[in-house]
Amino acid sequence: METILFKHVDVPDINRLGVYRENDGYEALRKTVTEMAPADVTKEVGDSGLAGRGGAGFPTGRKWSFIPKGILPTYLVINADESEPGAFKDRELMERNPHQLLEGVAIASYAIGCRKAFIYIRGEYLYIGEILDQAIAEATVAGCLGTNIFASGYSIEIVVHRGAGAYICGEESALLDSLEGYRGFPRLRPPFPAVKGLYNQPTVINNVETIANVPFIIHKGPAAFRAHGTEGSPGTKVCSISGPVNRPGNYEVDLGTPFRVLLDDLAGGMKSGKKLKAYIPGGASAPMLPGTDEYIDVPMSYEGYRDAGSSLGSASFILIPDDVCILRAQLRISEFFAHESCGKCIPCREGTPWLAKTVSRIERGEGREEDLPLLLDICDNILGRSFCALGDFSTSNIVASIKYFFDEYEEHISRGRCPYGPPLAAAAGHAAS
Ligand SMILES: Cc1cc2nc3c(=O)[nH]c(=O)nc-3n(C[C@H](O)[C@H](O)[C@H](O)COP(=O)(O)O)c2cc1C
Repeated sequence: METILFKHVDVPDINRLGVYRENDGYEALRKTVTEMAPADVTKEVGDSGLAGRGGAGFPTGRKWSFIPKGILPTYLVINADESEPGAFKDRELMERNPHQLLEGVAIASYAIGCRKAFIYIRGEYLYIGEILDQAIAEATVAGCLGTNIFASGYSIEIVVHRGAGAYICGEESALLDSLEGYRGFPRLRPPFPAVKGLYNQPTVINNVETIANVPFIIHKGPAAFRAHGTEGSPGTKVCSISGPVNRPGNYEVDLGTPFRVLLDDLAGGMKSGKKLKAYIPGGASAPMLPGTDEYIDVPMSYEGYRDAGSSLGSASFILIPDDVCILRAQLRISEFFAHESCGKCIPCREGTPWLAKTVSRIERGEGREEDLPLLLDICDNILGRSFCALGDFSTSNIVASIKYFFDEYEEHISRGRCPYGPPLAAAAGHAAS
């Protein structure tokens, strides 16, 4: 299968500018700044059907078109926070082929009239920040980035900014606060970032993978992009798969490919002796699905997972084998959200630890019959009532695990212990209640 994002991944030294240029690198940018009007670039990206790869799947061309005309400066901010549990695709895209991203950043910046773009990268990706800095320096010396690129009169500066490892700073408005030097708290919308974003100026925020697609779209045209994927989900997707499979890692597939292909053909199937009990297609924030044939055959597309009752999100596939207690898996997820809640709004600040405490109580065998309706009631009071989507995300897997694995919850309560062995209470920060 022809790939878009990983097409050069096996070319030795593709991270070096010279090698990238020998492989058509920066040709799309040259064409953009010397032959195209900014509005035409946005139109091409819109026509390609590219949707945001950070999780929400918002149409990228439409997002760029929201930038008002004549209000300067405008900013492009690349979300390289990659804080979703199970996600590690942006890491590989930046590490292996930094110029592909930088070229996309420059093209997108040109489209929205931006002269200074930021890449907000999670603090733990220290060495990737250095890779990007080095690539920016190399491209600037060669005139591909910086002042008057390709003698076009257009200039673009790209700054890499390190975050400090907070999940909330992946949420785009909290990311902007963090970038401005404040504690990362989500902002009230409206106004949306396209109107008042970074430093109160019009701002586009896009994920790394989203922007890494842009050079291909400009170079080969929207139709070549649409030759991949489905009508509703054009293009390819880099899927991260982790858990007890033979070859965990990142795989680029056409959107719409059945999950079974990723699981069995690409990742080499479950490790011997392991059977798939459940899986989460879109990182900790997407609802889990049972590991039955019906769900293994789901096409990996935005519409495919929506119809299956979950979400493709960032395509971060977390596998749960049948020897793992579903409540323990859920406890890990609930502890994560309780830890990462920023505390700005009450439903999320109070609700996420309450969920974790209640799951922990059931997991260690001290649950009560009324705990299941209690969990669902807490979810009801968080969902749609929290300031940002982090609160909503914390409810997804509680609701899904109770829906699909009700018997396992019941068994913990009726037996008064975890059927899978000694509880995790000592390890769980919210266990003591
Ligand atoms: C709690 C939370 C965490 C998020 N983390 C990330 C992240 O790590 N990376 C990312 O690209 N988007 C993340 N998002 C989504 C962003 O808010 C935003 O939608 C995205 O960066 C837009 O880019 P796209 O349109 O290219 O997908 C997160 C959202 C929420 C609510």
